[in-house]
Amino acid sequence: MKVDIISIFPDYFAPLDLSLIGKARTTGTLDLTVHDLRTWTYDVHRTVDDSPYGGGPGMVMRPEPWGEALDAVATPEATLVVPSPVGKPFTQADAYQLAALPHLVFACGRYEGIDQRVIDDAASRMPVREVSLGDYVLFGGEVAVIVIMEAITRLLPGVLGNADSLTEESHAAGLLEAPVYTKPAAWRDREVPDVLRSGDHGRIARWRRTESLVRTAARRPDLFAAYPPENLDKKDRKA
Ligand code: ADE
Repeated sequence: MKVDIISIFPDYFAPLDLSLIGKARTTGTLDLTVHDLRTWTYDVHRTVDDSPYGGGPGMVMRPEPWGEALDAVATPEATLVVPSPVGKPFTQADAYQLAALPHLVFACGRYEGIDQRVIDDAASRMPVREVSLGDYVLFGGEVAVIVIMEAITRLLPGVLGNADSLTEESHAAGLLEAPVYTKPAAWRDREVPDVLRSGDHGRIARWRRTESLVRTAARRPDLFAAYPPENLDKKDRKA
């Protein structure tokens, strides 16, 4: 997968050299380039922002550098992703969709955002997705891009050693995962649930299923309400 990130703070993306994303880059699974938006400015101050039309606080990113940057970086296969608090909530389903695309271009806004014409102009030539990480406001899109790239990269073929991790994990089937434990069996007078040490795979699966349903109902009533009732069997209903 090809990824281009455009930002006025390229240094923000140093973590993308580390761990499994770094490895995906060295093995060629992920072809990722970070671009400095100021490459496409021509005044002495390398200006990227100006005051908003109509007044109001803060600054807005000017369209010219963004237009040139996107012209330079987007291929005919590109999808533009713009993290923004006014975007659609980013979910695991979005991560799967984006992970299946050949080329993603991320535009990191700062200040009060990017001039709307940049997004409208791009949308006339390529798919554009404005996505939000949640109902809070960050300084800019940079950290959001790192989050989204983690969610996507772990879905790319060959990145996770054990592909079962993907089917078992939280949000895979619209439920939260059950609690997990490792050795020692007793720690600070707290015991690992007996069932997990029983070796009875049927009982273990049933226990995990129940914990997953109970946890989801308690912590995420929204997810629980959206869970298809036909996916609940008799034992689930008893739980
Ligand atoms: N940029 C600023 N706030 C954001 C948010 N909540 N999600 C994604 N990008 C953002």
